[in-house]
Amino acid sequence: AGYPIAIDGPSGSGKSTVSRQVARELGLRYLDTGAMYRAAAWAAQRAGVELTDEPAVTAVVRAMKLEMPLDPDQQVISCEGEDITAAIRAPELSRVVSQVAVNLEVRAELIARQRAIIAAHPDIVVEGRDITSVVAPDAPTKILLTASEATRLARRAREVRGSVAPAALAATRAEVSERDAKDSTVASFLEDRDGVVTIDSSQMSIADVVAAVRALAQG
Ligand code: C5P
Repeated sequence: AGYPIAIDGPSGSGKSTVSRQVARELGLRYLDTGAMYRAAAWAAQRAGVELTDEPAVTAVVRAMKLEMPLDPDQQVISCEGEDITAAIRAPELSRVVSQVAVNLEVRAELIARQRAIIAAHPDIVVEGRDITSVVAPDAPTKILLTASEATRLARRAREVRGSVAPAALAATRAEVSERDAKDSTVASFLEDRDGVVTIDSSQMSIADVVAAVRALAQG
């Protein structure tokens, strides 16, 4: 095994927390590709284009001045000179980002930028939905992080609402299933392939998953 380390998984799989921690512990860089799709949606909205207008969105994304941080401990994201770190996590943005992610021209643009970053910094942990299959299929360490639906739901509820009470779970369930349904149209990202190790984190602590990823990368 070795670097880069490619990690894919659905929301709530623990992929961001695990990826950042692995990068920290191994002294590697870290790239959050989901944040790039979020930035693309933000840029399109800021430019005032309809997210369904694919050519217009593509033009905005191709011209987008996006600076992605690669330090796992400094994740300030800047787009068109603005700090968009908080804005791209807003629930309203989370709801529309998949509209931009289904645009294949947008994907081609962001994939090219991701590959350029990986080529310049191969000592990196890259997380997303299509990293093991499309962006870096030749990465020596490829991991698909999964978790049961109940686990993912509880993690999201705690993250977004700070609670796993029944009302918080119910509200989160609707959001999670809506986003999963939209993301499933973005094709076969989650399909298991040769050389991809699946880790089901449902019954594992974050520390256990981090240790498993480290063992794979260093094995
Ligand atoms: O990982 P995160 O939840 O921030 O990703 C936001 C959205 O970006 C996902 O729901 C998905 O629609 C899209 N995405 C993608 N390909 C990636 C990473 C994210 O399509 N590699």
